Amino acid sequence: MNKPDKQGQRARFNTKIGVIATTVGSAVGLGNIWRFPYEAGSNGGGAFMLCYIMFIFIIGVPVICAEFIMGRGTRSNILGAYRKLSRGKWYIAGFMGIAASVAILSFYSVVAGWICEYFVQSVRGELMLASSSEYHEAFDQFSTGNWRPVVWTLIFLSLNFLILVRGVTKGIERMSNILMPLLFILLMIFCVNSLTLSGASEGLAFLFNPDFSKITPRVLLSAMGQAFFSLSLGLGCMTTYASYFGNKTRLGRTAITTASLDTLVAVLAGVIIFPAVFSFGISPQAGPTLVFEVLPAIFNSLPGGVVWSSLFFFLLILASLTSTISMSEISIAFMTEELKMKRRTATIVNTLIAMALGSLCALSFGALSGFTIFGMTIFNFFDYLASNILLPIGGMIASVFVGWVVDRRFIRNQLTANGSIKFRAYSLILFCLRYVAPAGIALVFLNSIGIIS
Ligand code: PFF
Repeated sequence: MNKPDKQGQRARFNTKIGVIATTVGSAVGLGNIWRFPYEAGSNGGGAFMLCYIMFIFIIGVPVICAEFIMGRGTRSNILGAYRKLSRGKWYIAGFMGIAASVAILSFYSVVAGWICEYFVQSVRGELMLASSSEYHEAFDQFSTGNWRPVVWTLIFLSLNFLILVRGVTKGIERMSNILMPLLFILLMIFCVNSLTLSGASEGLAFLFNPDFSKITPRVLLSAMGQAFFSLSLGLGCMTTYASYFGNKTRLGRTAITTASLDTLVAVLAGVIIFPAVFSFGISPQAGPTLVFEVLPAIFNSLPGGVVWSSLFFFLLILASLTSTISMSEISIAFMTEELKMKRRTATIVNTLIAMALGSLCALSFGALSGFTIFGMTIFNFFDYLASNILLPIGGMIASVFVGWVVDRRFIRNQLTANGSIKFRAYSLILFCLRYVAPAGIALVFLNSIGIIS
């Protein structure tokens, strides 16, 4: 049961760089550039950053290893991976991951749609306004509208569909290889620019000087949710991608590289955004709209701003696509392998569900803003439910499963590529999976519902 099954015609990522680029391509996206700055801004800056980095490396890295082991070892979708490794009811966690992936795809596509709108406005030179307060109004007017945000959500999901029907390796791998380095260079340039702004020291102090009194249960839960979201973790995305890895891929090294590069991009985004927040007098607590107010103001202050902003929003659309492709792949792999659907049909089903739910999310800033679930709009509810609850629970189940249920030899074989490489951190990873990650996640949950303090 624990032996890897026959490869059949399953797709494979072709090269070492392809594996890193696609995994990092999944991890790096709006989570780093849109979600991280606004979560950090709303949750005390440095305090949030400190907890976030701690969660990435203490819980995130071991859980990525667990997902990689499950995926590459079984060469299956998330449900199949649980099923192949145990007879118990663990596979139910697979359904939870699929539900989370659809919820994330829905609201994520709305934000990606906003980026598309900003790209078009940039190219047309319409994004250059007179003062930073105007950016707030301009975004507010656009996002509360009833048709533009919905149309952009649908257009973005159609793009996602077109890439997905072409299959795994070709489309994704080729695009990620070119895109990621380019985005990184652009971020470095913006970073240098932000450091020259008048609010640079205040912004950096906000982000890097933790005020320990600000570490509340809410901050801990948000930082943990952000770590899972940003690493595409806890819903089977890394399991699904690892099922396409080659047999020689080094799982531990890939996990560390992915986590480090992902964190680097988030920190760069913070270093770009917060100096500007303080320079332009914008509130760091603006929430999901934060970067849509700050980024245009930054571009406006740059010579050749139109070119920079067009290029940046274009790359951000592509970075979003590499992430939405990976989250769509979770349910597509499930439908093709477990429900025996054709890839095309599965992709259509996935896209149509996301289009319906995504439209509701898009409208939750306008026509549906009064409709709330547990006091949250549909958009906020999907985000909160998936990021702060479903992903950490999914991650906890994966770590307990690999740590306690899966055969040790199977784990060792995966981490050492069947004995062909040394993996010194084996005991450490196993210890984290058995004790540290489950206990850490449980503590944050209990703490946030007030059972322990
Ligand atoms: N990690 C992606 C980001 O930070 O933008 C978001 C994401 C991708 C979440 C894939 C979940 C997922 F399965």
